[in-house]
Amino acid sequence: MGRIRFLPLKKEIENGGGRNILQLATEAGVYIQSICGGKKKCGKCKVIIEEIEQSLAPPSDFEQDILGPGHIDKGYRLACCTVLTGGAVIRIPEESQARRQVILTSGTSYAYPAKLQPVLDQYLVEVQTPTIQSVRADLERLYMSIEDDFGLKHLTIDPIALRKLPFSLRSYEKGLVATIWDKQEIIDLQKEAQGPLMGMAFDIGTTTVVGYLMDLLAGKRLSVKSAMNPQIPFGDDVITRISFCQEDPHGQKKLRSAIVQCLNTLILEASQEAGIDPCQIMELTVVGNTAMHHLLLGLDPKYLAISPFPPVMTNAMDLKARDLNIRIGPSANVHLLPLKAGFVGSDAIACVLASRMHLSKTETLLVDLGTNGEILLGNRNRMVCCSTAAGPAFEGGHISWGMRAASGAIEKVDIDPETLDVQMKTIHESGPVGICGSGLISAVAEMIRAGIILHRGNFNDKITSDRLREGKQGFEFVLSWAEENPTAHDIVITQKDVSELQMAKAAIQAGATLLKEVLTRDPQRVFLAGAGGNFIDPADACTIGLFPTSTNTDIIGIGNGAGQGACLALLDKRKRRDAQRIAEKMEYIELSASDKFQELFVSSMFFPTAVDFSDIF
Ligand code: FES
Repeated sequence: MGRIRFLPLKKEIENGGGRNILQLATEAGVYIQSICGGKKKCGKCKVIIEEIEQSLAPPSDFEQDILGPGHIDKGYRLACCTVLTGGAVIRIPEESQARRQVILTSGTSYAYPAKLQPVLDQYLVEVQTPTIQSVRADLERLYMSIEDDFGLKHLTIDPIALRKLPFSLRSYEKGLVATIWDKQEIIDLQKEAQGPLMGMAFDIGTTTVVGYLMDLLAGKRLSVKSAMNPQIPFGDDVITRISFCQEDPHGQKKLRSAIVQCLNTLILEASQEAGIDPCQIMELTVVGNTAMHHLLLGLDPKYLAISPFPPVMTNAMDLKARDLNIRIGPSANVHLLPLKAGFVGSDAIACVLASRMHLSKTETLLVDLGTNGEILLGNRNRMVCCSTAAGPAFEGGHISWGMRAASGAIEKVDIDPETLDVQMKTIHESGPVGICGSGLISAVAEMIRAGIILHRGNFNDKITSDRLREGKQGFEFVLSWAEENPTAHDIVITQKDVSELQMAKAAIQAGATLLKEVLTRDPQRVFLAGAGGNFIDPADACTIGLFPTSTNTDIIGIGNGAGQGACLALLDKRKRRDAQRIAEKMEYIELSASDKFQELFVSSMFFPTAVDFSDIF
């Protein structure tokens, strides 16, 4: 028992005993980097114990390995490995702190259709009053009037709108305004149109959540709000979160309520910015990967992690926002776009929709880089897709100094091939505290160009430079010296980091090559979706051989294609049908069942443009 104080945020929490520092910090609302979700694997959750009222268990072998004796003597421990039974003062060092993440909210330059077909329409209806000769029920008379005036048949009505009907019919002398969803269901009755019809489109990513508030009839974006996915403390990636659901009896419920709360917060913030009441929002669209979709709906994601990885469902679905505890219009619907497979979600379908590759003759390779890389190839005639377990390297996971794309992350590196001096660009121009996915690709590409990394990914031990040295895990290259950055440690790229990137890029390259062989056609352009892909320099991608394309193939970042696709489906119901057709028509290739993929993976490990001394000697 005792009080835990977290610095530098000065947040405190009562420690009932028996919990580790990561769990205590999560409960106190203190974010500590934890790429493995507390599984004692990533080594990112470093903290410094400044004061303590108890004796601590000695550091495990894993902690000793990650921290080294110098750090342990200074009070460093790994938060998920250290259980506290009493009070303590814990400092979160620079490299483990939450940082302002780059959240990609912009989409492609895609223009909305000139004539939108929104799923909601409003009709001014005059309903006959009942007479003693013809006593018809209120609802029957409402349906008849709508059918006579607007030709809409077989309507239903939401129970909340139905409760308003008797009063509305008798109070609004000039008729009433009926809001009708998809020409099928009356979802609201008002005296007059209450301002523009509003809707919100959400892209729920494993790391970030983005919401777009739109005027449905004008097709105008009123506000964009984003947040980190609050499920992160339960696991940085999808597989860790699925495991959490199995290990904690309330895991699924905790993850669901975290994401619902996040959506409600973004709805509130966007409504405030646009000066509307959240109840004016009458429609929502949602895209996300399959696990995010299942967790939002309260579906058990367990089988997504077990071969053959079947999702619970794939078709698009409409359901009431109130059934999901989403606080918008009381009769509003939520449209979830269709999924393709356990690891190809509606975010990928939305990217296709936004990029229009399904309408184009051009053979397009679309890649969403992440822990699970989603790869799609094809054109309007035929499309194939797969998902490949690329590992967390593209998001900074399993990399010695890896971090997400947040303030202080090194995102671009330049190495002078003569002197090996390093210039770098960091996110928000903060002092460097780590390296994000695009920074890692940039650094390795530059090290290849400078001859520091060779064809097989090994460091060139013929080079003499202070920056290239023997570290704990073999050779390492110093990007930033301790005195040049706020962490007060040398920021390095190790041989192991290069191997992690090799495996990640081999997974993408092999997956894309396999799709290319299925289609027997080469991609004529590459679209990179999502934050992971959007900041990668095409030249760096070519240098490390990320894609099976020639060096002059166009590589284009398409921004937040998933969010853009969700907006299109919000504004135009034809896009919902397109999304369903894309999902049905696209062919899914399961890589784990392919021997060919294993062969391609091994041959994709090499860096194609690097010097290969085995050819020279
Ligand atoms: S090692 Fe502690 S969160 Fe990963």
